[in-house]
Amino acid sequence: MKEKYFAIMASHRKNRNTDIALTNYIKKLENRGDLVEKVNLLDFEINICTACYYCSRNFKKCIIKDDMEFFYKKFEEYDNFIFATPVFFNNLSTLGKIMVDRSQMVYASNAFFDKNFKTTNKKGKAVIISTAGAPYYEDQFTGVESTLRLFFKNLNAEIVEHIKISNTDKNL
Ligand SMILES: Cc1cc2nc3c(=O)[nH]c(=O)nc-3n(C[C@H](O)[C@H](O)[C@H](O)COP(=O)(O)O)c2cc1C
Repeated sequence: MKEKYFAIMASHRKNRNTDIALTNYIKKLENRGDLVEKVNLLDFEINICTACYYCSRNFKKCIIKDDMEFFYKKFEEYDNFIFATPVFFNNLSTLGKIMVDRSQMVYASNAFFDKNFKTTNKKGKAVIISTAGAPYYEDQFTGVESTLRLFFKNLNAEIVEHIKISNTDKNL
C-alpha cells in the first residue's frame, strides 16, 4: 500500500551529507510508489520556545506566530515522518532541536486536555537518518534517538528505522 511521508531535513547545509542521504532514501520510497513531501528547516523561520507555557493553558495554541504554524499543520495531516539530521554533540542539529522544542505544544495538547492534538488514533511510522563526522563510537547516535523517540511519541508515530551514517568527516 502506498504510504505518505513528511520529511524534515534538519542539516544547516543543503546538498551535503544529511541532505544527500535523505534524498537517496526518498528516491527509494518514491520508486516503490510512496509519496514524500520534503522540507528544509533552513527555509523556515522558527523561533525558540520561550517556555511561557501558553500551550499548557490553551489547547493546540502556541503564542509565537511564525513558520512553526506550517509544521503544526503537517503534524496533524501526516501519520508518517522522516527526520534527517547531522549529529551535533551526540544529538540533533541546533535547527532540529529548535523545531522539536516548539513541538512542546503537541505534547501539552495531549497531556493537559481531555482531547488530543491529532484527531485520529492511527499509529504512524517514523524514520530517522543521522550523519556523524567521527568514526562510530558508543553513544554517537543515542541522543538523537532518545530525543526523537519522545518527539514522535507525541505525534503518535513509532520509530521503525534509524539509519546511522558515521565517519562523514573523513575527507575534511
Ligand atoms: C557543531 C557541530 C557538532 C558536531 N558534533 C559531532 C558529534 O558529536 N559527533 C560526531 O560524530 N560528529 C559531529 N559533528 C560532525 C557532523 O555530524 C558531520 O559533519 C555531519 O555529517 C554534517 O552533516 P551535513 O553535511 O549535513 O552538514 C559535528 C559538527 C558540528 C558542526
